[in-house]
Amino acid sequence: MFETFENALTPDDIAWFKADFEKLINVDPVDRPYDSKKSQEIYGITATVMDRRHIHTEDSEGNCKMRRIINRHVPPDVTFYMAYQRQFLPHQLHIDKLQSDKEAPYAKSAIIPLSENINGIFKTIVWNRQFLSDQDFQDYIQAFNADKDQFPIISDVSQMYDVDHCWLDPPFITDTMTLAGVYDYKLGSIGLFDQVNLHCSSNWLKYKIVDHKDIILLHIG
Ligand SMILES: [Fe+2]
Repeated sequence: MFETFENALTPDDIAWFKADFEKLINVDPVDRPYDSKKSQEIYGITATVMDRRHIHTEDSEGNCKMRRIINRHVPPDVTFYMAYQRQFLPHQLHIDKLQSDKEAPYAKSAIIPLSENINGIFKTIVWNRQFLSDQDFQDYIQAFNADKDQFPIISDVSQMYDVDHCWLDPPFITDTMTLAGVYDYKLGSIGLFDQVNLHCSSNWLKYKIVDHKDIILLHIG
């Protein structure tokens, strides 16, 4: 499942969240480390942090404001995790971790851009294929590497989108699965998809226009 909600945030909402983001992104930051050698090989820059998050408490001003916005689009009783995220390296193929081991009846991820999408370089690519854990996806990669003939090429994602940071050499694993949709970042809109759908960020870094991307990230349900 993949949906986009247009005009979900007003220009005032966007301005408020941008200011709040700047105020909080370096407060109690949670950094996701990345191997600098791998970063050089894949992205052509030596970075040691993939992204920085500021995780909201349930009673933060931003969380309360976001609840009023998101409640128009998701069941009102669901809980959500909210983080401000500054991304320095475009995320590779992954699923978002489910809150519990059981398959949740409602488990979505929402992306709410706070950066201007110059030249349309910011996208989130979402495949139909679902995995219930990281291990489940690792098993798929392992099986693909062991016998690629068993995985026919059924899409042209690698030609259509900037996913070159996900798989370096052909045949591309990205082309063995069909797309659910592509979220083209637009200020004011929200991209929503099932957490178990395989997804990645587009490789915006290679265009050398900006050195980071700011979003609000929600894990809902
Ligand atoms: Fe994700």
